[in-house]
Amino acid sequence: ASSLSSAAVVEHTFYVQNLTVQLLCHRRVITAVNGSLPGPIIQVHEGDVLIVHVFNKSPYNLSIHWHGIFQLLSGWADGPEYATQCPILPGNSYTYRFAITGQEGTLWWHAHVQWLRATVHGALIIRPRVGHSYPFPNPQKEFPILLGEWWNANVIDVENQGLASGSAPNISDAFTINGRPGNQYPCSSNRTYKIEVVKGKTYLLRIINAALNNQLFFKIANHNMTVVAVDASYTVPIVTDVVVIAPGQTTDVLFTADQPPASYYMAAHVYASAAGVPFDSTTTTGIIIYENATLSTPQMPVLPAFNDTPTAHKFSSNLIGLVNGPHWTPVPLEIDEQMFVTVGLGLVACGGTANATCAGPFQQRLGASMNNASFQFPTKLSMLQAFFNNVDGIYTTDFPNQPPLVFDYTNSNNSFNRSIIMTTKSTKVKQVKFNSTIQIVMQNTALVGIENHPIHLHGFNFHVLAQGFGNYDPINDPKKFNLINPQIRNTIGVPAGGWAVIRFQANNPGVWLIHCHLDVHLPWGLATAFVVENGPTPSTTLPPPPSDLPHC
Ligand code: C2O
Repeated sequence: ASSLSSAAVVEHTFYVQNLTVQLLCHRRVITAVNGSLPGPIIQVHEGDVLIVHVFNKSPYNLSIHWHGIFQLLSGWADGPEYATQCPILPGNSYTYRFAITGQEGTLWWHAHVQWLRATVHGALIIRPRVGHSYPFPNPQKEFPILLGEWWNANVIDVENQGLASGSAPNISDAFTINGRPGNQYPCSSNRTYKIEVVKGKTYLLRIINAALNNQLFFKIANHNMTVVAVDASYTVPIVTDVVVIAPGQTTDVLFTADQPPASYYMAAHVYASAAGVPFDSTTTTGIIIYENATLSTPQMPVLPAFNDTPTAHKFSSNLIGLVNGPHWTPVPLEIDEQMFVTVGLGLVACGGTANATCAGPFQQRLGASMNNASFQFPTKLSMLQAFFNNVDGIYTTDFPNQPPLVFDYTNSNNSFNRSIIMTTKSTKVKQVKFNSTIQIVMQNTALVGIENHPIHLHGFNFHVLAQGFGNYDPINDPKKFNLINPQIRNTIGVPAGGWAVIRFQANNPGVWLIHCHLDVHLPWGLATAFVVENGPTPSTTLPPPPSDLPHC
């Protein structure tokens, strides 16, 4: 089949509206798409054009982000509010339209407004073009496994209460698999997610961490899994009994029903590198049932301990890219921009006004920053509109290439620490030339709140050259860079007390957020954006916005 003639236009309509659900013995009104949680599964082939008409019938501002999609010359469809568009106001609509080229695997879509993505999300599955195949044997069947997080209270209220109190919002009440907590929770057993398998057959699980604030361990009792892709990039197959997955990431695994016919739990609970950061310690389960199995209590896997960093690090650092697989991109070897970026929590000055949540000698509150710049989203115009129309005053291009002081864990000097963690809000972005290659060393400061930060870059995949613990060493750590077959991702967990080095080529003009995918950290400021200038030709220039782009 010719690949050109096989490309299709796939069209969806999303009605985003209130939905009453009964979960964990509570009745709650949530915001959901087309009456379901998770929302609709979008299935396309590489090379297709996707059109999604979004009607906002909810009481909240809304925008939808297509997490991991390159959006080549279609930055107006990326979705984050005030980054590439103003929000779709209640009663209004917007049509997202983009081609899906050069990538395949499991991605997802989610609301990019406040915490709405807790219930406004779904899978986005990109299969190979007609006539092309997976770089592994065709599975018998495929199942999206969306891991989610559930609050008995309205999530927007939970977020706003946290922001108003100046401390972390309440932790969730449950984790879920495809919207269902599973039978370890009250009032949940008859809606446990189940899949049926046939002995001897192999299945593909497309695991998506759609939880807001927690990394997760995922296991299937008595079965190994073979990882074949992460973040819609193929990997060299790796056999494992446990998957660790950060919010925003996806992991595709094959598993073979090779055990005695019976039923087996798949289960997930928190991986918290945390010391002193409260987390939800409950376990979500689904059930894998073999055909013709006699009814019995499913076997339960033993999940790693919540703080099992060695297991998590082994899983994440062992992944390597599939060099001969479809859509492999070699590591760019020339670097145009070298950045060293500290990521972490800290204190943010409130601006002089004393109030209950702004305490301490500097009238500060809990916040977060990159290179000590705590990101504030604009409200008058999206950054992409400001870029396209040359409007001043929406953002500044002075995001620094390094922090104000050389970060050093071994330095316990108080004023040193304060000038790494004490900052003010600003809208600083990094502007780069079209096609420049950017290398970022991300150092997790772990000065306040010892936890991993899953950093997500919009619009691009990046190569993960190395990861490690302690201070990044600019002399010796570059010797560890994998420039041959590193994993390719769009979200990397930067380990607590450690660092990760990524590299990407800015070959797409527009405004692309880079931020922590823990939703509790985004409003605190753990974000910035790359503004990628237009290239020299019409085919490297961002086209004008669609006529229905929402206005502020
Ligand atoms: Cu999946 Cu900016 O987000």
